[in-house]
Amino acid sequence: MSSRTAFNSRISFYLVAIGSACGLGNIWRFPYVVGENGGGAFLLLYVFISFTLGISLLVAELILGQTHGSSFLKIMKDISLQQKKPFHWVARLSLTMSLVILAYYSVIAGWVIHYITRFITVLLESQSADQVRRVGEINLSALFSNGWLQFALASVHLVICYFIVLRNITERFETFFTKILPIFVVLVLLLLIRSLSLESSPDALRFLFYPDFSKLNLTSLGRAIGHVLYTLSLGMGIMVTFGSYFKKEENLPSLGFRVTIIDTVVSLVAVLIVFPILFLNQSSQLISEPGILFDSLPSLFSKIKYGLFFGLVFFISLWLVALNASIVLIETLMSNINEKLKINNRHVSGTLVALAALALALFPAFSSTTLQQVKIFNRSFIENLDSILINYFLPFSALLFIVGFFKAETKSEMRAQFVSQRGKNSQAMFTHWVSLLYWFAPGLIILALVMQFINLIRYFFN
Ligand code: PHE
Repeated sequence: MSSRTAFNSRISFYLVAIGSACGLGNIWRFPYVVGENGGGAFLLLYVFISFTLGISLLVAELILGQTHGSSFLKIMKDISLQQKKPFHWVARLSLTMSLVILAYYSVIAGWVIHYITRFITVLLESQSADQVRRVGEINLSALFSNGWLQFALASVHLVICYFIVLRNITERFETFFTKILPIFVVLVLLLLIRSLSLESSPDALRFLFYPDFSKLNLTSLGRAIGHVLYTLSLGMGIMVTFGSYFKKEENLPSLGFRVTIIDTVVSLVAVLIVFPILFLNQSSQLISEPGILFDSLPSLFSKIKYGLFFGLVFFISLWLVALNASIVLIETLMSNINEKLKINNRHVSGTLVALAALALALFPAFSSTTLQQVKIFNRSFIENLDSILINYFLPFSALLFIVGFFKAETKSEMRAQFVSQRGKNSQAMFTHWVSLLYWFAPGLIILALVMQFINLIRYFFN
């Protein structure tokens, strides 16, 4: 993305948008959030929020970027000057969050790298008869007892991102990535079939699709909104930056709609793979922990033919997905820094981003060792960091974004961007979209934040 005309083909936009949306959030985070929030009812809430709040915000971010054609920081600064209100803080908050997210995203990507090395070790070291058993035994314990190892792996991940970004091979990487993607899709479908054929799958399907609304509580709405924002990469100025690279005549609503559908399908597939395995092992206490993906998959791989090979390819592909999402985060941060510092030096901005992320990654990396004592709500440091950022800050920043959006865009500008020549229904959809964004989305976010705060207060006074 070297100039603001980079998205000259629709395909490349799709790839980048889908690449940034589909990541560890869908495959690692979603299963544990669904487990934590009781399954079916939460899943329904999540899908509903994706297709109302999520999609309308996604389109708004793209439109804001496209109308102004500059970085999020600059757009918000212009609005601040115009309105004489501190809107530039919205952009600052969003970008700081993307930096923190990049840092702990790298730690989780480091877990994936660890699994890749474990699978390779088993492949090289053991006889085929023994391999199956050893695959089944791969777990997170070596990592969780070693903070430096987690930090080292996160650093490896960040350094690789840094080189891809600095050597200006992001586009080449994206081309490579798209070649890998079909392999990943086929593999995941095979895993899905295998997982659904386990004898535990009826129980898992009941858990996932039978909505038991009594399982929802004061925090469920906030959890669902937070995850939708995270998984669609919203509330961080990322889609604004994309929008600014985009050609005017594109049909943004339909792009947003497709990205949301694909992202939701990927998340659903992830839970359909993970839950039958969890129910097989009766390890229900694990259901709500961040490690569930990592704990459950080896047991599936040890049950299928060529499981070792499957496992290896799966984790390599997962890492590539994480790499792509991290690169998007770095590119967005860099493009904002370059515009802010009025430099066009990728080395300076890239190094600043990488170093800051590296320093911040120390905290989540030591979450299970040195910071083990830092437990609030009976949760580890990394879980609390994830929860505070995604369930509180992200919705809050999305709320501020909506306020800024309606200050920055006139109705006719919005209409001009939203209604396209090709999308016949977009005229009719326009009013719905505006009301969703103006009334529904802020109302729902405020409600979710208030309910989460009530829950916090109840926790502290009990
Ligand atoms: N949406 C990504 C995911 O689901 C996370 C992410 C957020 C990636 C922001 C890039 C930017 O994993």
